Amino acid sequence: MQIELDAIDLIKRAGKYIREKIDGSYHVEQKTGKSDLVTEIDQAVEDLLIQGILDRYPNHHIYGEEGRIARPDTLEGTIWFVDPIDGTMNFIRQKRMFAISIAIMIDGELRYGFVYDVMADELFHVIKGHGAYQNGIRLPQIEERSVKEAIICMNATWVTPNRRINTDRLAPLVRHAVGVRAIGAASLELAWTAAGRVDGYITMRNMPWDYAAGQLLIEEVGGRVGTITGESMSFLEQTSVLAGSQTFVEDVLTFVQTQED
Ligand code: IPD
Ligand code: CA
Ligand code: CA
Ligand code: CA
Repeated sequence: MQIELDAIDLIKRAGKYIREKIDGSYHVEQKTGKSDLVTEIDQAVEDLLIQGILDRYPNHHIYGEEGRIARPDTLEGTIWFVDPIDGTMNFIRQKRMFAISIAIMIDGELRYGFVYDVMADELFHVIKGHGAYQNGIRLPQIEERSVKEAIICMNATWVTPNRRINTDRLAPLVRHAVGVRAIGAASLELAWTAAGRVDGYITMRNMPWDYAAGQLLIEEVGGRVGTITGESMSFLEQTSVLAGSQTFVEDVLTFVQTQED
């Protein structure tokens, strides 16, 4: 499929650009606070991707994190969800464990997803109905694991007091799981869930450019992705994300619903 080849070509070229720039100097700005950063590399990569997409597909829409082009406000037509660097803090500090995340939606349906771990040169990609792949090797179906058997990726912030959810509902998950990880790049945490390296991802606040590609990867291997209360994604606003095998998601929903307020 030409669009798949184009997306892979663009994402690999953007990755090469990041690898060339990562050890140089660049400006870092705070967006909403000290944990929400943007660099000129994030912006340059988004520009590069936008230009590459529109050169090939002038009628397509782009929903990008850094807002370098007006975002669509409906899901009509073909939309590319673009996160030029998912895990900007990791990019700046760890200099690894960040990804470029791209998903392509056609008339409201996710069709293609790409999560490229730039420093590991590892590409996860998926074509709806035709498999999910890690560097070209097809991923098997996801393992069904309950919370008690699971390694869970989550943002640790959500088990501390916060406005969104009663933390008494999340703390038991941490207690019961085999292990908990906070990698700091949502798209990678979702891709790792699809690849069976971890068993699930939970967060209270993601945008479509964070989760869309990872969602399709997980769904393609038989897993489930929705909000923390089990609803499906709307793709035009911030949302919680609960992702993993069917068993894992059901189990977390039961945990969240049965804990006392
Ligand atoms: C962030 C990362 C982080 C997640 C945040 C995202 P960014 O993306 O994926 O792990 O917890 O919700 O905003 O800003 O580094 O692209
Ligand atoms: Ca950001
Ligand atoms: Ca980003
Ligand atoms: Ca992101």
